[in-house]
Amino acid sequence: MARNGPNHRRGRTPTLARPNKRSRAAPAPAPQAEEALSPRAVWRRRHLLDLDDFSAAEIELVLETADAMKEVLAREVPRVPTLRGTTIVTLFYEESTRTRASFELAGKVLGADVINISSSGSSVQKGESLVDTVRTIQAIGADVLVIRHSASGAPYLAAREADFRVVNAGDGWHAHPTQALLDAYTIRSRLGDVRGRKVVIVGDITHSRVARSNLWGLTALGAEVVVCGPPTLLPAGLDGLCARDDAVEGDLPPVRVEHDLDQAIEGADVVMALRLQKERQQAGLLPSLREYSRLYQVNSERLARARPDAFVMHPGPINEGVEISAELAHGARSLIEEQVTNGVAVRMAVLYLLLRGEKPV
Ligand code: CP
Repeated sequence: MARNGPNHRRGRTPTLARPNKRSRAAPAPAPQAEEALSPRAVWRRRHLLDLDDFSAAEIELVLETADAMKEVLAREVPRVPTLRGTTIVTLFYEESTRTRASFELAGKVLGADVINISSSGSSVQKGESLVDTVRTIQAIGADVLVIRHSASGAPYLAAREADFRVVNAGDGWHAHPTQALLDAYTIRSRLGDVRGRKVVIVGDITHSRVARSNLWGLTALGAEVVVCGPPTLLPAGLDGLCARDDAVEGDLPPVRVEHDLDQAIEGADVVMALRLQKERQQAGLLPSLREYSRLYQVNSERLARARPDAFVMHPGPINEGVEISAELAHGARSLIEEQVTNGVAVRMAVLYLLLRGEKPV
């Protein structure tokens, strides 16, 4: 069985994606000091589909550009004409609050026209195929398509079919690159640097596109990443031990795996909880939500094992009282709202880089 790409294991959502560029066979080298100190990377990408082949310098370029966008957002009238005359289409086949709203605002702040299309209110309901929808959006004159789809690889198909730029706003279990970029931005803005920081990602890693993109992004930036969760929700082989025949060789960068959250959290700088999708219990992957919470909920008692200045993060939406306690989610050590706020600047940076490259704002 082929082991490349986001859909090589049993039970995945249908995929249209192409293989990852970085693999376990040739793991991404830790970025060298020269790279960290080198001049800013030049943006050469036509699309943003995943972070699996991004260098640290490229990610830094996005984060530095987001710094400039934060400055725009802090202005009395946060509007600039940088993308005036361009059209951004958001096409969402799945629900979204944060990603969709922040892309819309990001485009508007930069002066673009933004058109939002949901599958539920569009001709998709009449049976229009993804390819025909993409071609229709191209015919309208879109410059950028921001797409979310339940099928892993759908953004790659869109990128193949059209002339415009494509941003993956979440595809199946595969990738959510702008979420990982805003997470890295939030860690960097609070802790100064991602390199050397211990980041614990807790929950359903197997079915999480957020976790996958964060594994690529955070390891590229030199973080020490630990993943934690029940064995049924962790991809086999993630820790380098590919004993099972559904192991993830070639699919994700190797990281430390812990099944005991108390041990995983020891000395952490950041603890990132993932949303537990309740259908995982129906699928027999969990005995009960109560049992899951008992073992894997991020709460104040557990966070006491982390560094005293550690933060908690969550991509949202949250199941309060399941994967994270309500008091921690809304407390002083939570960066959850800050993640949402930073999402606007990071998505402005992505749109800007895709459409204007290195030209000043
Ligand atoms: N984190 C995230 O993707 O949230 P939405 O589903 O609300 O966009």
